[in-house]
Amino acid sequence: MSLNIPPKRLFRVICICKGIPRSKICAAIENGCSTVTAVNQKTGSGSGGCNATRCGPVITELVKNRGYFDDELSDEDSW
Ligand code: FES
Repeated sequence: MSLNIPPKRLFRVICICKGIPRSKICAAIENGCSTVTAVNQKTGSGSGGCNATRCGPVITELVKNRGYFDDELSDEDSW
């Protein structure tokens, strides 16, 4: 994985229902998933009991920023 993300953030669980960590979401994005649907199909995220109400917006942000959160793009030194 070529993203510059500290391990603590990389292994944060994004899809709580399915226990999918950010590392898996980012790997899917790096390997060509360019939509939330594609990420969900590849990783299994978004198919839990909450129907992606919790992880959907987070995955959308990661897809939009190619694996990063908005605050990481604007303030990398605060990690
Ligand atoms: S947190 Fe991902 S489906 Fe519920």
